[in-house]
This record gives sequence, structure tokens and C-alpha cells, in this order.
Amino acid sequence: MSFTLPELPYSYDALAPYMSRETLEYHHDKHHLAYVNNGNNLLKGTEWEGQSLEEIVKGSFGKNAGLFNNAGQHFNHIHFWQWMKPNGGGAIPGELEKKIVEDLGSVDKMKEDFIQAGVTQFGSGWNWLAVKDGKIVVMKTANGESPLVHGATPILGCDVWEHSYYIDYRNRRPDYLKAFVENLVNWEHVAELYSKAV
Ligand SMILES: [Fe+2]
Repeated sequence: MSFTLPELPYSYDALAPYMSRETLEYHHDKHHLAYVNNGNNLLKGTEWEGQSLEEIVKGSFGKNAGLFNNAGQHFNHIHFWQWMKPNGGGAIPGELEKKIVEDLGSVDKMKEDFIQAGVTQFGSGWNWLAVKDGKIVVMKTANGESPLVHGATPILGCDVWEHSYYIDYRNRRPDYLKAFVENLVNWEHVAELYSKAV
């Protein structure tokens, strides 16, 4: 199975003003496409050819850096587009909200910790909500890594590579993270992934 670039689940203008058409055009059409193309080239002839994307990501981690970086970023970006929606943020579905309060203290504390993880990720990477040993945890990872290669299941992730926010926010990564949490997150999709993970 080779990698293919998925369509965005909304129009290029749909996330403005929090994420602009220009950002989505560069980020989806150029950056994500590059991961797809490079990943396909690097996958050819390896032992992971024909496996699922998750298997390729897990299998190549620590063994084939070039393939892992591109497959990992392909996996992360497929989900990133779905973790956002127009008029996002807002209420969290009941069962997920209950579990967040139980494991992370409160919704406000979860948002604070999630944003802090993104702010303190040095250089390129991602910050996450993930399910680990039955609990929701906040994580951060470098470059193309994700909770998937650290024994956890990602249910929400935010891309803090500069290509994700520099056009709209310049160097203000905290403002981008706040806008992501308050105005972009598709909590229904996060809840769906949570119920699959447990
Ligand atoms: Fe990205």
C-alpha cells in the first residue's frame, strides 16, 4: 500500500482567521505532499512495503530514520486535518470530559497543560493528548514522532513545526496553540478516537 495525500475535510478558507488559506495551502499541498512522496520513495524495497501506515511507523522507528520521519509525519498530518473543524473548540462530549477531569484535574488544566507542552517542545514537534495504560495523558514529541512509538494512542495532536503557524502567527507559538484549543479542535473526533482507544 503506498501513501496518498488525503483531501482536507473542509475548504481552504474554512479555518480562518485562526488558520489561513495560505497556511493550509502550504502545509497541506506542499509539506504534507512532500512527506507522502518522500515516504513512498523510501518505502520501496524495504521490509515494510505492503504494511499498514501504523505498522510502517512503528516498525521503522529507530531502524530507518528517513522512512520513519516521512511515514511518521504522514500519519500525524492525516490526523491533524481531522482534529480541526470550522467553529471548533467549545464543548467537549460528556464521557470524554468526565475522563479528562478524572485524569487531568479539569478541562482548564488539560488545556493549560496541553498548550504548555506545545510551548516547551524545543524545536519542531507535536504536543498531544494520548491514552496510555487506560489514562489520558499530555505528551510532547520531537519531529515526526508521536505517542504511537511511545506506547500510547494519540487522540489529539497539534503540529508545532513552524510551517504550521509562521504565516499566521510569526513567532507567537503560544497564540497559535491557544487558538487551536479554543477555536479549532474537533472534540467530537477526539471523543471518537478516545472510545476506540479504550
Ligand atoms: Fe506540519
